[in-house]
This record gives sequence, structure tokens and C-alpha cells, in this order.
Amino acid sequence: MAYYLGVDIGTSGTKTILVNTDGGILAEANASYPLLHPRPMWSEQDPEHWWKATVKTVRSVVRKSGVKKEEIRAIGLSGQMHGSVFLDKDDKVIRPALLWNDQRTVEECDEIESRAGGRKALIRMVANPAMTGFTAPKILWLRNNEPRNFDRLRKVLLPKDEIRRRLTGEYATEVSDASGMLLLDVKKRNWSKTLLSKLELDASLLGTVYESEDVTGTLTSAAAKSLGLTTDCKVVGGAGDCAANAIGTGVVKRGVLSTSIGTSGVMFVHSDEVQVDPQGRLHTFCHAVRGKWHMMGVNLTAGGALDWFRSSLCDDIRPPRGKSVFDVLNKEAAAVAAGSDGLYFLPYLTGERTPHADPLAKGCFVGLTLSHSRGHMARSVMEGVTYAMRDSLAIIEDLGVPVRECRVSGGGSKSKLWRQLQADVFGKKAVTINAEEGPAYGVALLAAVGDGAYKNIQQACDATVRVVTETPVQRSQKRKYDRRFPVYQRLYHALKEDFKRIAAAEG
Ligand code: XUL
Repeated sequence: MAYYLGVDIGTSGTKTILVNTDGGILAEANASYPLLHPRPMWSEQDPEHWWKATVKTVRSVVRKSGVKKEEIRAIGLSGQMHGSVFLDKDDKVIRPALLWNDQRTVEECDEIESRAGGRKALIRMVANPAMTGFTAPKILWLRNNEPRNFDRLRKVLLPKDEIRRRLTGEYATEVSDASGMLLLDVKKRNWSKTLLSKLELDASLLGTVYESEDVTGTLTSAAAKSLGLTTDCKVVGGAGDCAANAIGTGVVKRGVLSTSIGTSGVMFVHSDEVQVDPQGRLHTFCHAVRGKWHMMGVNLTAGGALDWFRSSLCDDIRPPRGKSVFDVLNKEAAAVAAGSDGLYFLPYLTGERTPHADPLAKGCFVGLTLSHSRGHMARSVMEGVTYAMRDSLAIIEDLGVPVRECRVSGGGSKSKLWRQLQADVFGKKAVTINAEEGPAYGVALLAAVGDGAYKNIQQACDATVRVVTETPVQRSQKRKYDRRFPVYQRLYHALKEDFKRIAAAEG
């Protein structure tokens, strides 16, 4: 029997799973680490934590499963996208990595668009406009603000690709994650020499680009020893967590949309051709399916909003034995009527990407009255996040992409209430699939393909991914949400200028 590891380097922690060739999960392990906010709008992490979490979780699943190390044939890596690991000539990390939800690069985004010859020209080169979370603006930020660190810079790697370097000694990436660096010619699936030269960045800063299922190396003897595996174990390209989650939920063809409510919220559709939102609101990236692409909308704070609510405002909750604070909040929220009796929540706690691309946007409760309870607030947080995700769905459908069903995943979708909210707010059946470990599962399947267990990723998904629950749309609730969604949408526009004034007043 052959076995495959899927490792997902997330924002709150790393999840590792071990699967067999049939896609059955033998063991899983998690390890968490801190997220640093040294200044408002900054978000950083220490790559050493990712490595320690990788070693710990891989050793744990191998031990728990009892599988022999020789039988573990390949590893697939997934991870939070866009993060910048800055390495010097000795592969030492120069400073903490800037993450996907860091908002410090507003000026660098303007610089990129102007060096590229305007927003449209940039979209022609790399299929996307400049967004604060992407990697290229982070490199320019280092050059503009920490010139000494920039002088030492020899490589910039994405979070999962830094783990790959420590596993294999190779500087490599793959098309799906590389797309989010804003330096990839997404159509040609390789670095854009044109943009690199306009930004005066050397191509040697970047790793070799592979397709997601390709083998990028094997474990070094030091890594094999740390992980308790063999030097025959391959490491395949893997994927950024959004594409990895889409693979893990079987979104490898048109018509199905994957939604993920993790720290961020993601609405993801497969496309056979490169399709670009002319207004640049959705991202157009390479899919982890060879020769295919995808579009997605990303909300920076989704599950992260309910987590903020829990940790900041609910520390007096003592859940009954065997239950969590989230279980209590879910129960209280489920007892409140659809629409939270006129209470709205804008989930822009770290600014917003889709559709507003506004780093200054803020979180708000609007419509509070004395009759609102904690349950109302919890429900309106969930509803606000789901409306924010519907904004992406509306753009996807406007571009003519058909969506029949939503495959819901991520921590938020473990809640029955949040699955029902997604069905009712989106107006689409919400289905869950057998593997709940979306990104880790997706890259374990890519590892199986890279090892030759399947002909391609579509075949691997057909053989392993099954729908297990279906949540139909409740028509009466849908009507209520359809009436409230435009109210939600207006609130951002009404407050947009005030968000700027708030920032200016804080100086
Ligand atoms: C995708 C994005 C986030 C991170 C979080 O563009 O920024 O979903 O990948 O893990």
C-alpha cells in the first residue's frame, strides 16, 4: 500500500493528514501558532513556527497511523497564500513574514500600477490588479522601508514553499500559489519577465515554477531524519490553500462553486480558459489542475470575525461539558429570526479585498437597539460574513459563470446554522463532502497523482470525493435575505468616506 501526506500551513495553525491511495484518512494532527500584529493593519508570522508545526504534525500522524515510513511515498504542501518569506544568501529569514491580510502596502500598490503603465496594463500582464495582500507589493515595501534588509535579500518564498525548501533544499513553487505573488503571467503559467523588469526586480529572487502535481524534489537526509521519513519521499508542487481546498472538495470542473469559511472567506470557481473580471474585483489565478484556471473572491475576515466576537466579547461564557463557546453562540444565534431583527454587521475588521479592495474599511454593527441580545450579535456576524461572500457570488454570476451548487467547507461550515445561512443567502443548495480537511486533503490527492497513483487530479477527485450532506434552500428565508442584502450592500458605500475620515483622525 502507498500513503500520502497533506500538510496545510494555515494562518492559525498547521494541519497534517495521512491518506491511503483510495483517499481514506488514516490520521490527522494540528499544531497552532501565534499571529503577530506589531502595528494596526500589520500581520506577520515567524516561519520557524510553521516548520516546527510541520515536523510535529507529520511525526504525530505517522506515529498514530502505524504506517511504515517506506510506505509514505509523497507529500503535498498547501498554505496560506501571498505571505513573503525573505531569505538572505545563507537562507536565513531576514524578518518576520508579511501575511495575506497585512495592509501596509497601499503606496506600493500604487507604485506597481504606475510602473506597469496603469491598472489595465498590469491586468494584461498578470491578470490581476495590485492588492495590498499580494506578494509583489510586500517586496517593494521592503525595498522602500527597510533598505538594509532589502540589500540582504536573495529569495522570496511563499509560506508553503519555505517549508518545501526546508524539506527538499529546492527553491520552487507551483502555479496556483505563484499566481498570488502578482509576478506570474497567469496565462502562460510562468514569471512575467516584463513586469519583473518594470519593477526592477531580479528573476533570481523567485523559485522555479511547477504544475501543482509535479514532483519538485525529494526529502534531504536532514529533513527525512527530522520527520521520521525516508529520502525517497517525494514532495509535489501542492497548491495555495484556496486551490487546494477546491481540489479537496472536488471543484475541478465548471458549475460547482466552493465556499470556504476559515479565517478568511473564499468563493472559488473553476474555469477552462483564463477569464478576467474587467473591474479586477475577482482574482484570476492558475488552478491546481494542469492547464486550467480559476476565479475567486476573498473576504479577509470571515470565520475570523466570529472568532474575534468570541474572544473579545464572550469570555464570560462557560460552555456545558463537551461543548465549546462556538456551540453556545450557535444555539443563541439559531434562536434569532433571519435578519437579526434589523441588526447588520460589516465584517471588514482587517479592511476588505473583494469587492471593495479597501484597506481602510472597518467592522461595524449597524442598527443596534435595546432589544438586541448577544445571540442577535452572533447571528448578525454570521449573516454579515455570508452577505460579504454573496458579493463575490454576484460578480461570478454576472460574468456568466454558472453555479448550480455550493460545496461548503472550512471551520465555519461545520456549523449547521452557517451551512443553512449559506444556502439561504446564496440561494443555492449547500453540500458538504466526505473529507472535512479541504486544503490538506486536496494536496494529499495531488501527492497521489504526482506519485502516479492516478492519471490526473480529476480522476483522483472522481475516485475519492463524495457529497455527504445536502442543505436545501428554505425559500421563505431566502426571500428575507434577498430583501436585506441590498441594505447590507448600501452600508459600505454610505460609510466609505467615513472610513477614510476615521483613519485620518487617528493620524
Ligand atoms: C487568498 C487569501 C487567503 C489566504 C488565507 O487570496 O488571501 O484566503 O490564502 O489562508
